[in-house]
This record gives sequence, C-alpha cells and structure tokens, in this order.
Amino acid sequence: MGTKGKVIKCKAAIAWETDKPLCIEEVEVAPPKAHEVRIQIIATSLCHTDANTIDPKFKEALFPVILGHESAGIVESIGPGVTNFKPGDKVIPFYAPQCKKCKFCLSPLTNICGKLRNFKIPTIDQEVMEDRTSRFTCKGKPIYHFLGVSSFSQYTVVSDVNLAKIDDDANLERVCLIGCGFPSGYGAAINNAKVTPGSTCAVFGLGCVGLSAVIGCKIAGASRIIAVDINSEKFTKAKALGATDCLNPRELDKPIQEVIIELTNGGVDFALDCAGGYEAMRAALDCTIVGWGSCTLVGVKPGDKDLDVAPNEVIMGRTINGTFFGGWKSVDSVPKLVTDYKNKKFDLDILVTHTLPFDKINEAFDLMKQGKSIRTILTF
Ligand code: APR
Ligand code: ZN
Repeated sequence: MGTKGKVIKCKAAIAWETDKPLCIEEVEVAPPKAHEVRIQIIATSLCHTDANTIDPKFKEALFPVILGHESAGIVESIGPGVTNFKPGDKVIPFYAPQCKKCKFCLSPLTNICGKLRNFKIPTIDQEVMEDRTSRFTCKGKPIYHFLGVSSFSQYTVVSDVNLAKIDDDANLERVCLIGCGFPSGYGAAINNAKVTPGSTCAVFGLGCVGLSAVIGCKIAGASRIIAVDINSEKFTKAKALGATDCLNPRELDKPIQEVIIELTNGGVDFALDCAGGYEAMRAALDCTIVGWGSCTLVGVKPGDKDLDVAPNEVIMGRTINGTFFGGWKSVDSVPKLVTDYKNKKFDLDILVTHTLPFDKINEAFDLMKQGKSIRTILTF
C-alpha cells in the first residue's frame, strides 16, 4: 500500500525553543492540500539562516519549528490542482516562490514574488502553509514550517510555487546546494551586481555564499577578485575558484578598505558582502570606487548594527543593492542551474566539506559555528 493520502510518520529535527540543540523526533506529516506537494527529502545541507533562527538575538522566530531550507528530494504525492509535478520527480524546494502570476513575477525587474507574505522579514515568512495551518505535528502539537521548506524532515510539504523539477540524473547530494547558498552568492555577482568582464571585485566572507560569489565573478570575466575573510583557512578554496588576492583584515595594520583602495588605485568596481554584519558591510561599501562602484549586500547577521549611509556616499556615484535568492526567478532558474552544474559550468563539489547522517545534525551545526565547514550534507 502506498502512502498517498495518508499521514506519514517519519524522522525530523525539531527546534523546540531558542538557543537549544535540535531534537530528533518522530513527526506526523499530513498529506498535501490543494497546490501542495509532499516530498521525501534525500539530502539537506544547513545554512546560517537556520542557525540565525535559533540564535537568541533573533527575536522574530516562532517555535517549535522544523528548520532547513537547502535540500533536494523526490515527490511522494501531490495535492489537488498540482499540474507540474508527479510522484517520483526529482525536485528542489526553495524559500523564494515564483507564482508567475503576480505583478512582481510578471516584471523582469525582480525575482520577488507576491506570494511572500512578509517583505520586511522574509526569513520568518512561510511558517505555515497558505491556508494558515501546518502539515506537521509532533507529540500532539502543531509544528511550524520554516521558509516554506522545512527540509530537516524525512518528508515535508511545500507549495507548488516553491518547488522546481530537476533532471532525473541530478546528484541530489550536490544539487541540494542550489536550494540556497550557491544561487545566492553566484546570482549576487551575476544578476544583482552584474559584474562585467575585466572588472575588479572584492568579496567579503568566504563561506558557501562568498565562494559562490567568487565563482560568479570569475564566470562574469572579472580580471581581479580580492577575497577577504577573517579566517585565513578559507583562502585555499577561494584561490582555487579564481581569487587573485586574499586578505585577512585581522592581519593588516590598516583598515581593510584602505588596503583595497590602495591596491586598486581608488577602489573596486564591485564589492559583495557575503559575511554579514556591520564591519563587513561598511568595508564593502567603503572600498568601492567613487563614480560607479557598486556594493551588493548578501550576508545577514541578526542583532548587529545596521549600515548607516551618508547621502554623499551615494551622491558621489556609488550604488548599494542587495540580493534575494541571487536574483533568480526560482522556478525558471533552478532547473537550469542544475543542468549547468551537470555540464560542469561550475563546481559544487568544492563547497562540500563534510557529509554526515541526518542524526548528527547538531554536529553539523557545531562545524558551521566553528568555521570548520563550508557545507555539510546530511543524508537520511
Ligand atoms: N570580514 C570578512 N569576513 C568575515 C567577517 C568580516 N568582518 N566576519 C565574518 N567573516 C567570514 C567568516 O569567517 C566566514 O568564513 O564570513 C564567512 C561567512 O561564511 P559562513 O559563516 O560559512 O556563511 P555562509 O553560509 O556563506 O553565509 C554567508 O549569508 O545568509 C547569510 O547569515 C548568512 O551572513 C551569512 C552569509
Ligand atoms: Zn509571484
């Protein structure tokens, strides 16, 4: 007997409260309702946004919750009205919906979709399904979804506008990174900064997002890529991906922005902050050249000071922009990115430093917090 139409009992990692390790529990996953798809997660990685949510400095989070939003899986069953998916399809769910109907989706200028219910804090959006109920219960309690994905569960239910079908032969233990970290950094360089051939770039923070931004700068044809991190252990991979200079702000006797301005005769054409936090954002903006320098904000650090910008900083020709899911219209672009990976346009393997069984999820969080991993892939 199949599972279609039935509640599935399976393993999930629940964050019951802030600042505590996740607990592996048995959860019940209800069948998908209209325009929803239930998927079996095969591989999930973890990203800072998951850790940020259980950080006590982040006040907006809702508990109990099943985190996780960078994953790949297989369709188990579909709800009424779903036309683009069938059981057995390989898929990637994502936090950035693309309904293809709203005024944002119809505009070529943005990848934001009106299905997002909270434009101000999209990171806590989609904590329930569109009918305002959850498909998860544990010990009789409803459990919140997270970012419309909740991949820290063997089975999850997502909206059909938060999902893309990918190639049947895709390696799910790699392409799960196309659910968040890789497209965010890569797209920030290509779609938001719009890095140009022959340009000079600076990338702050060399985690998965920053290294993916280095990949984007390189593919866009940048001739100089200055990679910056306070952890020099990150430089080997940055160099392998095309960084021409690597700088550690903690090992310099002058502020990093001054060093970059000297090195580049006035500043870089494009700076991308993939670290988050005031220090990196400030340095990224400061090191862009007057006249046309562009600073793209990618990283987020809850509880840190916001960037304060004086009018003259932009009056003098600099621009500041940001990225949401790397500027990619998700449903259209994710399958293409999977195919590009298969065709070796870029490497995802270099971003994977660890693979662990799902039960060791708290170990994976520790590796991330200690700066020892780029990405850890968890398999069920
Ligand atoms: N200057 C330069 N690098 C910094 C700084 C700084 N002031 N502060 C931190 N870093 C570096 C860290 O040493 C780390 O190598 O930034 C890197 C961030 O990488 P990860 O922690 O692996 O994060 P990643 O998953 O790549 O996400 C990057 O995007 O989604 C947000 O919250 C997330 O802010 C994070 C960012
Ligand atoms: Zn839309």
